Amino acid sequence: MTVEGGVELLPIPTPVASKFGVEIKGLDLANLSDDDFKTIEQALYEHQVVLFKNQQSLSPYHQYMLNHRFSPDSNIYGHSNNTKATASILHPDLKTLPNQPQVQLIGNGFVREYEGLQNAQLKHPHHGTFHKTAIPAAEDLAFTRFYRWHIDAALYGASMQPPKVTTLMAVKVPTGRRQTLRYDDGTGDVLDVSLGTTAFVSGEKSYEILSDADKVFARTTRVEYAPHPYIWMSQAKSLPTGLGMFSDGLELPLEKLPAITDADVQVHPMCWRNPATGKLALQIHPSAVRKLHLQDGSVIDDIAEVRERVYALLRPGIAPELVYAHDWEEGDLVLFHNRGVLHTVCGAFAPDEVRMFRQCNLADTEAPMGPEEEV
Ligand SMILES: [Fe+2]
Repeated sequence: MTVEGGVELLPIPTPVASKFGVEIKGLDLANLSDDDFKTIEQALYEHQVVLFKNQQSLSPYHQYMLNHRFSPDSNIYGHSNNTKATASILHPDLKTLPNQPQVQLIGNGFVREYEGLQNAQLKHPHHGTFHKTAIPAAEDLAFTRFYRWHIDAALYGASMQPPKVTTLMAVKVPTGRRQTLRYDDGTGDVLDVSLGTTAFVSGEKSYEILSDADKVFARTTRVEYAPHPYIWMSQAKSLPTGLGMFSDGLELPLEKLPAITDADVQVHPMCWRNPATGKLALQIHPSAVRKLHLQDGSVIDDIAEVRERVYALLRPGIAPELVYAHDWEEGDLVLFHNRGVLHTVCGAFAPDEVRMFRQCNLADTEAPMGPEEEV
């Protein structure tokens, strides 16, 4: 499809069962007019994932400015830079660019110098430490798993609402091998993926395929997240599907976390409304969830039960035929609707395989829209 000014929107070859994603061609991301931005915004809310190819020369500043167009009142990185405490599980994964602190360098391997960042050791997650049960070392190069399905969000802090969008730009991508992604949950489900893919699922699809009873439950239940969730969960181990954590009592007790203010604890609707189309998306961060507040006023606070309920709701939405696993090429910039998709990194790298990605998202000042709100 072509729109005005030679800008083209092309469908991304995502799975047939869950069509989402679009590629936009013909826009200069460093010089966006208001009309250009409207085209991007409309495409984002309609398709959830927007791909721009060949963006190697886009500066970190202009990457940040693309995020900033969606959240003009925001200029703080989604997890803030002063809450990336060393005890947080996110700490080793994120290196802040000194000249553009809203943009993080993530990936794997040693980087001598990049955009003012010197001697950075990037560390991709690995099955050996991330999941409770590891993929055997002999199979490590051939197989992988989802690590952590998530929304990019601090999920703690009254002024740190989930970012509307995230941008991810592939600076350096190791190529040449693919891996078989195993769910390892007894279903036999597998997915053929490129090394170091980012996998996406549509929260709108996940909602759409729920039973009628589950839709009512999802529309009327609110999710309370753990305070300082990435420190709280730092000792717990991930399920093989990446859809939450094992309940082995390894979460840090609240008294071992940094100071907690009740007003900073985030409670969100389980379904978030698309601000353009009005559609509902099932949006839960399954690893950070701590309690469920039901419509009748009761609260499920048994963590094992909370996780079981959330898992049952989310698992159908990550079926292989619904997952879009992006096959990265250097220069790809993916803009995704962080309030309408879940995503996860995958892949097991050798220590010397260098992967460099620039990631940006901004903590928003407005909470996501719930089912009660109208567009
Ligand atoms: Fe992420």
